[in-house]
Parts: sequence; C-alpha cells; structure tokens
Amino acid sequence: MAKQFDVVVIGAGPGGYTAAIRAAQLGLGVACIDAWTSPAGKPAPGGTCTNVGCIPSKALLQSSEHYEQLNEHFAEHGITAKGVSLDLAKLIGRKDTVVRQNNEGILYLFKKNKISFFHGTGALVAKTDFGWLIKVSGKAEEDLEARHVIVATGSNARELPGAPFDEDRILSNDGALRLGAIPKKLGIIGAGVIGLEMGSVWRRLGAEVTILEALPDFLGPVDRDVAKETQKALAKQGLDIHTGVRITEVKAAAKNVTVQYTDAAGAEQKLVVDHLMVSIGRVPNTQGLGSDTVGLKLDERGFVVVDADCRSNLPNVWAVGDVVRGPMLAHKAEEEGVAVAERIAGQHGHVNFDTIPWVIYTSPEVAWVGKSEQALKAAGQDYKVGSFPFMANGRARALGDTTGFVKILADAKTDEVLGVHIVGPMASELISEAVTIMEFRGASEDIARICHAHPTLSEAVKEAALAVDKRTLNM
Ligand code: FAD
Ligand code: NAI
Repeated sequence: MAKQFDVVVIGAGPGGYTAAIRAAQLGLGVACIDAWTSPAGKPAPGGTCTNVGCIPSKALLQSSEHYEQLNEHFAEHGITAKGVSLDLAKLIGRKDTVVRQNNEGILYLFKKNKISFFHGTGALVAKTDFGWLIKVSGKAEEDLEARHVIVATGSNARELPGAPFDEDRILSNDGALRLGAIPKKLGIIGAGVIGLEMGSVWRRLGAEVTILEALPDFLGPVDRDVAKETQKALAKQGLDIHTGVRITEVKAAAKNVTVQYTDAAGAEQKLVVDHLMVSIGRVPNTQGLGSDTVGLKLDERGFVVVDADCRSNLPNVWAVGDVVRGPMLAHKAEEEGVAVAERIAGQHGHVNFDTIPWVIYTSPEVAWVGKSEQALKAAGQDYKVGSFPFMANGRARALGDTTGFVKILADAKTDEVLGVHIVGPMASELISEAVTIMEFRGASEDIARICHAHPTLSEAVKEAALAVDKRTLNM
C-alpha cells in the first residue's frame, strides 16, 4: 500500500526543499524525494545549488580571493608575508565541508518540519483516486501517493556537441569545482555567469585562463556600461576573453584538450589547454519523470510547460525552478516553491518576475535588477539616468576597492525606479536596497531621501539616486 501525502515534492534543490518546508509550515503532510548522493554515498539534498553550484562556487571564490588579496593587495596596507603557499587539497576540502554542512542543514530542516525524505529517483507513474502515484527507485524503493505533486528536478550542464563531459579533460561546473591540481592553462567555452566565476577562481589560483564566447557582445543581456566596465576590470586581472568566436572542433587527449575555432575576424585559431570547462547554459532534468507515463507536457527544449502560477497541464501537478521557464537562479526557484506551497494551501502565493536580482560574483561583483538602458531604449520608454562611481565613495577608498559604479534608471515622468545596475565591491549586498525600492514601486527620490549610514558603500546608491536629479553631494 502506497504511503499517502498531501504534497510530494520531487527534487530537493532550492525550489523543492523550500516548497516542502513552506507546505509543512502550512500544516500539510509532505514528502520530498531527492536522488543526489554525496561522494561518501550519503543523501545530499540541496540540489545543484548546494552540491555543485552556488555554495561550492562561492566557497572557492572566497578562498581564491583571500589568496589574491594576500599576494597582490595586502602590501598596499603595509602588510607583507613571506613564504605564502597554497594547499589546494585543503582549499577544496574546505569547500566540501561547506557543502556537507548545507546538506546536513537541509536534512535537519526536513526533520524539524516533519517532512518524510526519500533518497532516490521519483517518477510520476499513474493517476489514482487519491491523486498521483509516484514511484521512488534507487537508494529508497517506495510507492507514494500524493494529492499534489511539485516537480523541482532542476537542470544539468549543457554539453557542446562532439565534446561530451568526462570531468577529467572536458569539465562541466562539477569537474571545475574539484580539480586536483591547478591547471597551467584552462580553457572555458561560454563567457556567461559560470565561465566568469569559475574562470576567476582558477585565474586567481594561478591558471592562465582563456574564455571563448560565441556572442559578439560581452555579457549581452547586461547593461552596456556595466558590461564594458566589467570586461575592462576582468581583462586587467588577466582573464583572456574572446567574443564572437565559433568553435569548430574540440579534441580531448590524455593530457590536454585542443580547441579549434574561428575568431571574430574570421581567422582560424587553435587553443591547447590542460582542461576545458564548457559553460554554455543548462538543460532541464525531465527525462523519465512522467511525460511518457502520465503525459506531463514538456516544451521543445524539455522544460515542463507551466502557467504563470507554475501549474502544469496535469491537475494538481506543479513545477518550479530551473525545470520551468524563467531565469535559472536559486532565489527564483525558492520564491516559486514558496508561492506554489501557499497556492496548494489555498493562499495567494506571488512571485514578482520584474524584481528578481542577478549577481555575478566576480571581482568586481556585478548585480542588477530591472531594465537595462538598452532595454528601455528598445521599448521606447523615456527615462532619466543617474550614476555614481565608487572612486568618490569614502568607504570604497578605505577598503582599497574603487572599481565600478552604481547606475539608476528612473521613469522620466514619474521617477519610478526601472532598473539598478551595479559593478563594484559588494554589489551582491547593495542590490537588495534596489530590489526593495522596486518592489514597493518607489522613486529615485525615495532612495535619495533615505538616510544611509556613513561611511558605507550604500552611500553610492544614494548618490546615484541624487544624480538622477543632477544633485550629487560628493562629486
Ligand atoms: P536543482 O538545484 O538543480 O535541484 C534539483 C534536484 O532534483 C537535484 O538534487 C537533483 O538530483 C534532483 N532530481 C532530479 N531529478 C530527480 C528525480 N527524478 N527524482 C528525484 N530527484 C531528482 N544561482 C544563484 O541564484 N546564485 C548563484 O550564485 C548560483 N551559482 C551557481 C553556480 C553554478 C556553478 C551553477 C551550476 C549554478 C548556479 N546557480 C546559482 C544556479 C542555481 O544552482 C540553480 O538555479 C538552482 O539550483 C535551481 O534550483 P532547483 O531547485 O530548480 O534545481
Ligand atoms: P549562461 O547562459 O550564463 O552563459 C552561457 C554563455 O555561453 C553565453 O554567453 C552564451 O552566449 C555562450 N555560448 C553558448 N553556446 C556557445 C558556444 N557554442 N560557443 C561559445 N559560447 C557559447 O550559462 P552558464 O554560465 O552555463 O550558467 C548557467 C546558468 O546558471 C546561468 O544562466 C545562471 O542562471 C546560473 N548561474 C547563476 C550564477 C549566479 O547567480 N551568480 C552563477 C552561475 C550560474
């Protein structure tokens, strides 16, 4: 006899585990199934984000940033150190510990919220009188029945045709997070978020990093001023980025990888590297989930088709996160998970897609929310611009990190903030204020009139808001 639940969540990434917790908080009986297994053979809930995404990449970004600061920047503060060395095994081991702590944290939260956890692969098998029959296979073998199902099976790295991942020479994000030695030369295909973050990690640790990007523009969707400033800063650090390339062949050998490509000028080029990371986007995990058995509708790229409220084509089957349309971001997955749990409980869950922030954790960090200047122009919307450089911010000078600026775009008539774009120190934290203002449909004048602590980097946000009205105080 199948165990019965109000809600069964398939996948325990940020979308799934958050949905499970919220549903349990609302008094529903909840089970969550997740297939991820740690290198030690244990359940490892948390999905891509916890195991091979947000968390481990940020752990490595932090460690490599410390190393670079010590080698390149501490001397400016009068601090010199002799005999600096790097223990890569320890650095990677620390990252693994951080991941494990997060896996354990989620298992604890499941227990605390009385969520039944099943370690295995879940598949929708049939419609029943109760709701849906879900088969769990793998570590746990169970039949579950659910009134509501939330599909949160996430995504996987997309392979380049003709260059399958072996995680030795040709790496996805997974292999790039656990290299056993610092490569002399690392090649990266795709100058997107993963390419820039992982490229920064290995460059800081000593690799010569070359990034090949197909599009002619660097960071195409990002505000042009921000993209230009970021490209300048990353190039100065030594990231060798080529845009407008076309990859023609990738050949992995025992000790290296050869990439043939055509550059932006149309010339044939060859790159030989120790490892090649391919970061050209991600594909949804929907194979074997239920499209064949129960007719769960997928689009031509394999994403579960959902409406604005995350309802699939099947009654009481929902889908959230990377497996559905929209940005592939952990916080977007979480917001959708919470909203769906609330809808199941009869509440009015809501996700505002216009105020989802983006962050790229390079140095300088890049963060934005809302419309870019080129998007406003294309939409024919009248706008005002204010920007303020960190060079003129006292805290940034004290930190010794004055790269970049804050740029605010506001409606020409109403002054409503339409977009905020930051490149510079702690942009990841500063963007929150912009998200809040935009969520409340605030004006640039609102930011300008709010008291910001001194000296803080957030004063650059206030000054950018003052600049919209052409009245900066410190420039
Ligand atoms: P996932 O996190 O992919 O979780 C899905 C889970 O479902 C997995 O555990 C999977 O094993 C499991 N699963 C799949 N199929 C089944 C099945 N049939 N049965 C049982 N279990 C199944 N986003 C950010 O917002 N900030 C960042 O800094 C950031 N950094 C990233 C860095 C890297 C290197 C990568 C690759 C991604 C990063 N992301 C980041 C993106 C983020 O990881 C994803 O957007 C997020 O994990 C999506 O969450 P999800 O719950 O939809 O899916
Ligand atoms: P991406 O979409 O950010 O970047 C992929 C890049 O590869 C694009 O610039 C694209 O033009 C390029 N590309 C595609 N095909 C190519 C080809 N054949 N040759 C050369 N270049 C090619 O995808 P990425 O970096 O793989 O990351 C996937 C997603 O994971 C991101 O879009 C983001 O949603 C998420 N992520 C978020 C992070 C964050 O929030 N800080 C960090 C890392 C990932």
